[in-house]
Amino acid sequence: MPANLEKGCSKITICQTVFSIYVFIVLSQIPNKVRYLDISFNLISNIKLKNVSRGLLQGLTQLQVLRLDGNRIEGIEQHSFSTLLNLKVLNLTKNKIQHIDRLKPVLSSPVLEELFIGCNKLHRFNSYDLSKSPLSLRKIDFSYNLLISFQIIENIFPVLYHLDISHCGQDRAMLWNITDKAYLNSVMTLYMSGIHIPLESIATFLQILASLYKIRLSEINQVKVEALLQYVSSPELGILLLKGNNISVLTEHMFKHCFNLIELDLSDNEISNISALVFIGLTQLNVMRLQLNQLIQVKRTFQMLPTLKFIDLSRNLIHTLTYLNNLEVLKLGSNKLLTIDNAFKNCLPSLKNLQLVYNKLSTLTDGSFKSLSNLKSLSISDNQISEIERHAFTGLINLDQLLLSSNRITKKSIRDPTVFSGMPNLKHLDLFSNVISYMDDNLNNPPFIHLKSLKCLSIHSLTSLEMFYGGSMNLDHLHPDTFNSTPKLWFLDRSKNAFSADNSIPPEVFHPVPGLTKLIISKAQLHSLSFLLNARLSRLSVIQASENMLDVINQTLIKSLSRLRYLDMKRNTFTCDCSNEIFIDWAMKSNYTQVIYLSRYTCSYPPSMRGMRFVNLNTESCIVSIDFICFICTSVLAVFTLLASFIYHFLYWQMVYAYYLFLAFLHDNKKKQMHQQHGFQYDAFISYNAQDEPWVVQELLPNLESEQGWRLCLHYRDFEPGKPIIDNIIDGIYSSHKTICLITHSYLRSTWCSKEIQMANFRLFDEQKDVLILVFLEDIPTQQLSPYHQMRKLVKKMTCLRWPKAGEDIRLFWQKLRQALETKGDPEEENTILDVKDRLNRTPPCFLFPLCPYCLSPSMSPSFYIRS
Ligand SMILES: *[C@@H]1O[C@H](CO)[C@@H](O)[C@H](O)[C@H]1NC(C)=O
Ligand SMILES: *[C@@H]1O[C@H](CO)[C@@H](O)[C@H](O)[C@H]1NC(C)=O
Ligand SMILES: *[C@@H]1O[C@H](CO)[C@@H](O)[C@H](O)[C@H]1NC(C)=O
Ligand SMILES: *[C@@H]1O[C@H](CO)[C@@H](O)[C@H](O)[C@H]1NC(C)=O
Repeated sequence: MPANLEKGCSKITICQTVFSIYVFIVLSQIPNKVRYLDISFNLISNIKLKNVSRGLLQGLTQLQVLRLDGNRIEGIEQHSFSTLLNLKVLNLTKNKIQHIDRLKPVLSSPVLEELFIGCNKLHRFNSYDLSKSPLSLRKIDFSYNLLISFQIIENIFPVLYHLDISHCGQDRAMLWNITDKAYLNSVMTLYMSGIHIPLESIATFLQILASLYKIRLSEINQVKVEALLQYVSSPELGILLLKGNNISVLTEHMFKHCFNLIELDLSDNEISNISALVFIGLTQLNVMRLQLNQLIQVKRTFQMLPTLKFIDLSRNLIHTLTYLNNLEVLKLGSNKLLTIDNAFKNCLPSLKNLQLVYNKLSTLTDGSFKSLSNLKSLSISDNQISEIERHAFTGLINLDQLLLSSNRITKKSIRDPTVFSGMPNLKHLDLFSNVISYMDDNLNNPPFIHLKSLKCLSIHSLTSLEMFYGGSMNLDHLHPDTFNSTPKLWFLDRSKNAFSADNSIPPEVFHPVPGLTKLIISKAQLHSLSFLLNARLSRLSVIQASENMLDVINQTLIKSLSRLRYLDMKRNTFTCDCSNEIFIDWAMKSNYTQVIYLSRYTCSYPPSMRGMRFVNLNTESCIVSIDFICFICTSVLAVFTLLASFIYHFLYWQMVYAYYLFLAFLHDNKKKQMHQQHGFQYDAFISYNAQDEPWVVQELLPNLESEQGWRLCLHYRDFEPGKPIIDNIIDGIYSSHKTICLITHSYLRSTWCSKEIQMANFRLFDEQKDVLILVFLEDIPTQQLSPYHQMRKLVKKMTCLRWPKAGEDIRLFWQKLRQALETKGDPEEENTILDVKDRLNRTPPCFLFPLCPYCLSPSMSPSFYIRS
């Protein structure tokens, strides 16, 4: 038994009975409208059907195609096919049928056309075992059976046109008993590859089949094909397939009987030499396949084939080309062509497709393709082209597609624009994987300037450009003007470049191409896609960014890609922490965008997670739990309570003071504006301690109010009852032109006095006016004021007076006070004050009292009550 027979057939398994019952139950549920039913071995592995029982297929009246291949069927029960009235195709390949009569029940399907019983255990085919009356079969596949006899003694195959007996036979003569040649008259296609019978046996059969149109005779190892071909008796033979027969020489008369051949397949042989006369007489030949041979030259041989339109000569050893005629398709891929010299200069005017891939071409010379005026597609990819002469493509007036990828084309090779001249209809130019590199993106002589119809590649001045493959161009940045002249661009391939530096792709570069929908930036050493944020690519629907160094895709980026349908980010260096949480979530759940290969993405950082699946990242930890929030709140509350009680206990007065100070500051601004508009109600606000009231009533009031006529603001008299004291103070100070502070030891100790002076001080700073008059009623030793030395500078701006000691002239004091009150505090009048001050040498040094330490002492707080 040949080894290949056993290979394809399946092994014994158990449970077949159970499985049959199961299939029966299942099938009985199937509605009888089913047209295609597949119970082949792939369906349920290892459990196979052993028998097609009666009732198994019952009721499937509409079934047209039934696949039972790959089971262990040995027999088919009577009547099991009787309801399959419409069955046309039955596949019983790879089963265990031993006798053809076991197939008889199948024929109760009246319109069965195709029967596949290859790879069974048939030894004999006798027509009377099958039927005695004509069948509707058009196609029978007997391949891979061990046939030793084939007998047809009735006309049971009146319409059979396809017969496959490939790989049949047992290496001995086959008994052919076909009692009337006419029984196989309708057979047009015969497959006899790999048949295991001697030459004479094959010859006998071939002579019977007189109306063949197509013969496949591949892998016939024992027999010489040339010899076999002598017995092909059909004058109608159009297609002869002789692939894989180790033919090394094509002899002169090999095809002399096949003068009507249209297609000849000689591929995968060892042909190294073709006699010039071999094809003589093949006046109809259209298609010739000679790929995978050892041909070194293409000679004039093919000139004998006037009708040849397609020739595949790829994967040979051809290194020179000579004349070829009238072809439309010429495939010369994978040869050893070093040059194409004059091969296309004066011939092949009808060639439409020329394939020269995988050769060793290094130069394309001027006018190489001159006569190929009908060529539509020219593929010269995967050669070693480094030099392209000017006008190399001249004459290709109908060329649509030019593939030049994977060569050694440099910037220099195409620097002359005439290199690409002469192809007015070129739409697709492929320059992948060359070594074209430009230092900057501004080309003085754009090499593609002559390609006015180009749609699939352009660099400059080509307004119809729609697709741009710019892969492997050794670019490391994009100039913002790169696409200025290509507004229709929708496809951009910028892969395999080195955009590793930040800003190597400025977002503005995309502004001229708002219609861009496909962006390919794989292997571009990108660290970030942030350039897309401001790129305004509202139509972008496909991004291929695999094999970069992208680590985080954040929410902002995701939101900016609203039209994205397809994202490929495999093999990037993802960071597996919460920064990618939103990306993972979106990638898995998004209904609109498909993030492909997501499950294959792996983590690169942190090191402990390297190699882990990206989608397995636990993002739950990124969501701060409610418990945690509660914990934080409670803690803060507890700390705050502690702090509050601490402050209350130790810093109560400081806080109260700070509070009032703050209020004062707020009021200060308000009042200032108010009084700038309304003028002053009083000439002076008198700030004094309650203990000094007698002096105020007995000395100050009579002198200033009664005698000199000043309007004074005194708290016991002028403060509005019911209004907060602090407001009263502020109102008093701001509605007075000046503030006179009567400084005594008790004044310094009083909280309210300190506050009044503070307030006046705000005004002093604010209005830049001399509003404060300090009157020292007592001698206060300098050392008591020494902590405030830093305020000396401000003191210069202040009027200071001292109440004369007993025996000194009181009149002078009142005069100075009047002068001080009279000054408006404007800068130019300052001098008068200073003059006064100078003349009053006796006046002690004056100080401003900011936050008077006495006042802050809690023990001193009662002054609050004194004032109220
Ligand atoms: C029949 O079955 C064989 C083996 O499974 C398969 O290769 C072939 O394609 C099938 N043919 C049809 C027409 O179903
Ligand atoms: C062919 O088959 C017929 C009918 O069965 C039989 O009479 C004849 O002897 C067979 N011929 C050979 C060569 O076996
Ligand atoms: C996302 O990244 C971009 C640039 O890297 C940045 O401008 C943006 O603020 C980031 N967004 C968020 C939500 O972190
Ligand atoms: C996807 O569709 C389902 C069902 O229509 C919906 O419940 C879900 O919210 C959608 N998801 C997103 C991310 O829009």
